[in-house]
Amino acid sequence: MCSIIGYTGINSAAPILVNGLKRMEYRGYDSVGIATCSNNRILIKKGVGKVIEVNNNEKLDSLPGNIGIGHTRWATHGKVTETNAHPHSSSSGSLAVVHNGIIENFERLKQNLKEKGYTFKSETDTEIISNLLQENFEQTKDIKKSIIRTVSQLEGNYAFVVIFKDGTLCAARFHEPLIVGIGKHNDYFISSDVLGFIEQTDDAIYINNAEFVLINSSGIQTFDFNGNLIQHQITKVSKEFADVYKGDYAHFTLKEISEQPETIIKAGEKTRDELDTIIDFVKHAKSLYITGSGTSYNAALVAKYLLLKYAKIKIEPIISSELQFSPDSLDTNSVLIALSQSGESADVLEAVELAKKSNAKILSIVNIMTSSLVQLSSVVVGMNCGPEIGVAATKSFTSQLSILYKITNQICGGTLELDFDKVSNSMSEILSDHSKIKEVAKKLKSVSDIYVLGRGIHFPIASEASLKLKELTYIHAEGIPGGELKHGPLALMTPNVYVIIINPNDSTYEDTLNSAREIKAREAKIIGISDRKSDVYDYWIKIPTINEALYPLIEILPIQLLAYYSAVEKEEDPDYPRNLAKSVTVK
Ligand code: F6R
Repeated sequence: MCSIIGYTGINSAAPILVNGLKRMEYRGYDSVGIATCSNNRILIKKGVGKVIEVNNNEKLDSLPGNIGIGHTRWATHGKVTETNAHPHSSSSGSLAVVHNGIIENFERLKQNLKEKGYTFKSETDTEIISNLLQENFEQTKDIKKSIIRTVSQLEGNYAFVVIFKDGTLCAARFHEPLIVGIGKHNDYFISSDVLGFIEQTDDAIYINNAEFVLINSSGIQTFDFNGNLIQHQITKVSKEFADVYKGDYAHFTLKEISEQPETIIKAGEKTRDELDTIIDFVKHAKSLYITGSGTSYNAALVAKYLLLKYAKIKIEPIISSELQFSPDSLDTNSVLIALSQSGESADVLEAVELAKKSNAKILSIVNIMTSSLVQLSSVVVGMNCGPEIGVAATKSFTSQLSILYKITNQICGGTLELDFDKVSNSMSEILSDHSKIKEVAKKLKSVSDIYVLGRGIHFPIASEASLKLKELTYIHAEGIPGGELKHGPLALMTPNVYVIIINPNDSTYEDTLNSAREIKAREAKIIGISDRKSDVYDYWIKIPTINEALYPLIEILPIQLLAYYSAVEKEEDPDYPRNLAKSVTVK
């Protein structure tokens, strides 16, 4: 969602904040702003657009002062306007706040504050925090007390950073991420993500839920929401987080697609013992569920087919946001596997909290090992695929699949013939030549509807493919289970429609080819993703032949590339699709 950042130290704050915000832009990117404190005054600059654009126009990085806060926004309360962009100062201008999350009781609080004479410029819930802090500070004349009072009045999930004009920097965390970077020269960084400060320091303190930090000239102190002092260890942040550059790639999305031959091998490698524990749970669970949102849910669907076919184990996939409607299905005997790249998706966290209430065992497969989901889980396997900056999930999807394949293979005694070197080489082969995919991407540029058809285990891949296409190209896209074609979707087949047929040379091949023929008879255009050529394809994107069970791991790659190049053709930014955010920390 949004990213929040803060800095205090000997250096000029504004350039550090702008640079940190650029690194975290994947979390939200409709507007940006920073505030600094200089000569007992709070100065604010902000605007609508990406960090680079707003900085070019507004010269955010020219604000004076050694202490400041910053924000990139993904709008929840109020339209995308400069006024709604953070930071938000309080009525008197004595402090300014940046905030990530949602204040659920904001309307009531706003009304109360208005009745007391506080004024509001924006439509945001954030301005409530600013004015509450001002009110509480005026009453207590004490920053620590004013934070404790303020957090006791707020409902919802949030993290905020505030600067007071005396130069104190504070931040509070309630179910939204908050990390403090400890600099080498008595300087401190506050951020929603390690990426916000990794270029400055790799020493960090992970603030626990319901805690706040106070940083002033006497140093840093952390308290719980009751005001008790909390001691924290400094953690060395993994150097792999420094891998946040595009290098020679035009976009993060392309870089991350290209990393998959390595990331599928690394998946789960650092947490082998935990992988063994999960395997044990999966083998012996009385009832087994798997949950996730978006791409992670599509990986959960693949798990259903895999485990049933090869390990004879039933696992029920549940969309995380839907679990609340059938919480009674889980009990003490249930095991829930949660899949999440970020480990911060609010829907996934809520599903897990509900399952925990039913005493179900929580196992998770996560990329960000410092995330909230990790804290809620009994056993965690790390996807270990490095930071995924592009908003559309690519390498994290195949890393999730890789772990699910490793689990299945071990349970079924190796009948999957899981040869990751072979899978990796096949991926490299697909990635070695983009020319055909670029040619097809040119055709998709002006298309209004794309369907992706797959049978059996290829249907979840078709769903994932359509998700990638809609996110990156803004073209309407839909996955179709092959057999369902004649039960409705066939009515939509016209010469203007493109249908991607996922058709590896396996047991689904002939039936899927028949579906392609039925579509072709209605003059829609066919893009075949297959290792076997056919005249029915208007465009054939060749994939290597591989052991039948393993096609799902490789067949998504050409479609990820197709979505990427179609976005580029349409001059859209593939890294930051409109209206989306990388970690969806609101419900
Ligand atoms: C799709 C995409 C989203 C995420 C979803 C879950 O490309 O990125 O659909 O997959 O928001 O995110 P995580 O896996 O972080 O819980």
